[in-house]
Amino acid sequence: MNSNERFGLVYLIFGVSIILSLTSCEKKEKESAALKSKFSSTQLTAHFPYDLGPATVDVSSYPLNIQESYKLFLAVCSSCHSSSRPLNSPYIKAYDWKRFVKRMHIKMGTRGYVLESKDEKRIVEFLVYDSKIRKIDKKDEFDAKAQDLNKLFKEVSKERESLQEEETLGLPKKETPYVGVK
Ligand code: HEC
Repeated sequence: MNSNERFGLVYLIFGVSIILSLTSCEKKEKESAALKSKFSSTQLTAHFPYDLGPATVDVSSYPLNIQESYKLFLAVCSSCHSSSRPLNSPYIKAYDWKRFVKRMHIKMGTRGYVLESKDEKRIVEFLVYDSKIRKIDKKDEFDAKAQDLNKLFKEVSKERESLQEEETLGLPKKETPYVGVK
């Protein structure tokens, strides 16, 4: 190989590597566009990271009375938000669950729905038992899932913001109030 041929070879390799890197860039761009649209509308309306987790639990190994209470829980606690909110939330103690069920109960009251105190107790009983099984006894597993949900929630929030920005792009800018010179 003379020096001209060697030069030619170097240019060829250089050229091919540029083409390869350009096509991989294009691929990445396409991938990020796919990433953008991969969230469902339900995911985009999540208020809490826990909204993004599963909305059901496998209760087949739970005691029968708890399985019954689970049905009641699903019926009552998924009427305003998804049941995934309480199921994947970090709350575990009876004290917390009593507080939350009371708080939700008050919200239901304002909608004209009455929850009997015996049903309230059964829902708390299910939540405490289920928290023990999934959140306390398998703490590492639950914490890892919670971390994934937090990450996903950040991505979803970002996506929501950029969608809102796109939506407001066409609108006239809001006037910024004069706040003085800082
Ligand atoms: C009447 C509508 C309604 C019903 C029914 C309802 N919730 Fe909620 N829930 C809300 C709203 C609104 C929020 C968000 C604002 C807040 O936390 O008060 C919320 C938030 C929550 C949160 C997250 C609170 C936080 O700050 O982390 C939990 C946990 C929760 N609900 C559990 C339950 C449980 C358990 C039930 C069933 C007993 C239930 N919800 C039924 C309306 C409801």
